[in-house]
Amino acid sequence: MTPPPLLVTCGLPYTNGPCHLGHLRTYVPADAYVRYMRRMGEEVVFVCGSDNHGTPIVVSAEETGITPRAMSERYHTHFDETFKRMNVMFDHFGMTDNPANHPRTQAIVSELEKNGYIYKQIVHQAYCTKCKRFLPDRYVEGTCPHCGKPARGDECDQGCGKHLEPGEIKDPLCKVCGTKAEFRDQEHYFFKLSEFKEFLLPYLDTLRGTSNAKNYAIGWIKDELHDWCITRTLEWGVKFPGRDDLVVYVWVDAPIGYIAFTEEWAKKTGNDWKRFWCGENRVTHFIGGDIIYHHCIFWPALLKGAGYGIPHAIVASGMVKVDDHKFSKSRGYVVWTNDDYLDKGLPADYLRYYLLAYTSHTKELNFSWKVFAERINNEVVNIFGNFVYRTLYFAQKEWEGIPGGAVDPAITAEIEKCLATVNGYMQEYEFKGAVDSIMALAAFGNSYIQTNAPWKLIKTDRAAAAQVIKNCVQITKALALLLEPVMPAAAQECWKQLGYNDKVASHPISDATLPVPEGVIKAPSPLFVKMEEDQVKELDALLQKRVAEANKKTEKIPMVTFEEFQKLDIRTGKVLSAEPVPKSNKLLKLQVDIGSETRQIVAGMQQFYKPEELVGKDVVVVTNLAPAKIFGVESNGMVLAAGDAASLLVPFRPVEPGSKIR
Ligand code: MSP
Ligand code: ZN
Repeated sequence: MTPPPLLVTCGLPYTNGPCHLGHLRTYVPADAYVRYMRRMGEEVVFVCGSDNHGTPIVVSAEETGITPRAMSERYHTHFDETFKRMNVMFDHFGMTDNPANHPRTQAIVSELEKNGYIYKQIVHQAYCTKCKRFLPDRYVEGTCPHCGKPARGDECDQGCGKHLEPGEIKDPLCKVCGTKAEFRDQEHYFFKLSEFKEFLLPYLDTLRGTSNAKNYAIGWIKDELHDWCITRTLEWGVKFPGRDDLVVYVWVDAPIGYIAFTEEWAKKTGNDWKRFWCGENRVTHFIGGDIIYHHCIFWPALLKGAGYGIPHAIVASGMVKVDDHKFSKSRGYVVWTNDDYLDKGLPADYLRYYLLAYTSHTKELNFSWKVFAERINNEVVNIFGNFVYRTLYFAQKEWEGIPGGAVDPAITAEIEKCLATVNGYMQEYEFKGAVDSIMALAAFGNSYIQTNAPWKLIKTDRAAAAQVIKNCVQITKALALLLEPVMPAAAQECWKQLGYNDKVASHPISDATLPVPEGVIKAPSPLFVKMEEDQVKELDALLQKRVAEANKKTEKIPMVTFEEFQKLDIRTGKVLSAEPVPKSNKLLKLQVDIGSETRQIVAGMQQFYKPEELVGKDVVVVTNLAPAKIFGVESNGMVLAAGDAASLLVPFRPVEPGSKIR
């Protein structure tokens, strides 16, 4: 029986910001896996798309002054182009807001309702009285009820990482206006995730993919499984069936996008999407370690509840960090794929190599330019590039190309051993193991050519030298074929230099042991250029500068103790008179009643207030500020104001002049 076709997907990028190196750890390994499996003869479909719904996009769009749709299109195009530049080649790259996904999401939600997995319940939802609206997810910020760290409405992003249900967050503040939010009752729909425990435990036990995904998920379920509120009061999103005032939570329609994109692809190519999503399947999701809960628990339960096929494998990467910090745009810990890498003329291949080979796929990857350059120079340039160049240079120089004769069986055996090892690793999603094995074959070639020294041998035995080169050429061919999933551009160049004029990607990996025909080749050129020390220093300096600047912006203001604060005597006062300070166009001289006495205070407010506007106003005064002479006028205190236009701080309700502020 032939196994069902492979469908490979990647975690969908949110359309509210550009692509960074962290994202790429989902897409590059997935692309390499797809390329490899195709060249092992598998039928593979590779779909992805952008994730357009949810509050982060609405909030960003509002801040930018454009619609969420326009915002989504902008970043959708950006990701699509960036992936192509990185040689990540999807068969289809859709949008969750496009027509296919709305009806598919509604169909699945209706099916869940029909099957009894959805119920209505009143929740206490954060509400902003000033904005007059409910505050879903990222519209609200507050304190995590589990760990006490600052959190967003739907997740504890700075602390324990837990998913938060609507109404759970403590001390909620409206993200838009900063007002303290209140809780108001609202009717919402819930998905009975808790009923899926019996299904999930054995399912996860047999789930393929990386062990981190499976083990985390099993651990979480053994703990407890909460139902999920799956509706939000928002305009932007997929309408909940039959409710014009509610959309589904973004984590419902986003993974359903995987199905909708398969449908779009199938329509485009005349295929049947049901082959991939109904019954037995081999759906393989590539994701980052931050969204394991959604993919290993919530998503299979949704699919199961609606009667669809459930994922075959979930491949979760460790997170990419910078200087041991979580990626954060606001804190400067970020390396942009375009601005910091591709636009600087650095090859996509190097980054692909680094992301795949730096460390095991499930481990954290702490990015550093220095290590990046070391790995490229020591491995890619010195081992792989060097071996291929020496081989082809010598072949071309002495025989004008590929010499005749047969490859030694020992060399063929070495190549076959490598193919088997690489395959073992790839089947287990151990990309580092696979790439290291390819490099090991290149290293083998390097020491083989070094010990046999055909440049010496040729002086005494030309046939023996030809044999050595014949063997090296065969290793080069195997390397080109194996390298293609990792570094497609360099592999193609290597293939061309071997004298082939078709696409290396059109050949199965097993061609590695088919002989390279005797014939003329052009003089080779090095496949790779070294990363120069100056360039690395410059790249690193740019990153350090970005972090330093961001830190300055968010610099911690030093704490004062309560005792220190109490040293300030701050009181309300009433302005009795105001007049310009002679010869100054900024200053006003005020007489302020502070209860016990009248104080003369000079304030920089001439540009912002007419003197008569201030007379009679209740203001806030620091009364024990050391006296000073300003423009020759004595000032005994300070009137408090905020912002560039010196907006006066005033008591909310009338109080007696001289009331202490505490
Ligand atoms: N939109 C969601 C995924 C929905 S899938 C139905 C999302 N978007 S994202 O833009 O934040 O991330 C896109 C992909 O990149 C995800 O697979 C995510 O795990 C991955 N990564 C984003 N930042 C990452 C790191 N810093 N490190 C590793 N992978 C991370 O999540
Ligand atoms: Zn927390």
